[in-house]
Amino acid sequence: MSRTYRIAPSILSADFARLGEEVKNVVAAGADWIHFDVMDNHYVPNLTFGPMVCQALKPHAVRGDGTPVPIDVHLMVQPVDALAAAFAQAGASVVTFHPDATAHVHRSIQAIRAAGCRAGLAFNPATPLDVLDWVIEDIDLVLIMSVNPGFGGQSFIDSALRKTQEARRRIEACGRDIRLEVDGGIKAANIRAVADAGADTFVAGSAIFGQTDYKAVIDAMRARLAG
Ligand code: DX5
Ligand code: ZN
Repeated sequence: MSRTYRIAPSILSADFARLGEEVKNVVAAGADWIHFDVMDNHYVPNLTFGPMVCQALKPHAVRGDGTPVPIDVHLMVQPVDALAAAFAQAGASVVTFHPDATAHVHRSIQAIRAAGCRAGLAFNPATPLDVLDWVIEDIDLVLIMSVNPGFGGQSFIDSALRKTQEARRRIEACGRDIRLEVDGGIKAANIRAVADAGADTFVAGSAIFGQTDYKAVIDAMRARLAG
């Protein structure tokens, strides 16, 4: 079946001194989404940016024809609810959180959707997908972590392929339009294998922002996906 693939560059690997320009440049280079890694130095041992930065970057996440580029917020924070609401307010299109970072997964999903955002669940490399048994009807995205959360530039953890296959099976069985996103260690050399495992949305930070020509990298990824 033909699947719509999306490339979501993670600004965690962008130049933090020029974030607005970096978002503009990666959108011009063909990014489908902007992946926004929120870290609180509590759930993960790193600290990034909050809703005000999301609000400030939103006007830069616009294509040449004026269409907005979705901001794909990945919350690596605990607790979840207050920040999820703040990012919804700040212009997030999708808010994804880790189920082990909240006491009430179903309630957090409901709150994100009530705020007008699409809701996603992110699964760390050792976290099973079981919670999907009870909430797959309520979410819009499943995020499979192929690295341990907290840092860019790490190596892809191969067991994520098997978990992506299982997530794809569950999504097909559910019959709803749910994005399947894989995040961490993705580059042109391995993106095809991740797509073959069932992913349709690909986060890439260092593979894109680590290069000078963002468009060349994104085009190479798309060529592998088309191949
Ligand atoms: C890690 C983040 C990832 C990371 C991806 O906690 O969730 O989005 O920034 O970076 P790369 O593509 O460099 O592994
Ligand atoms: Zn991420």
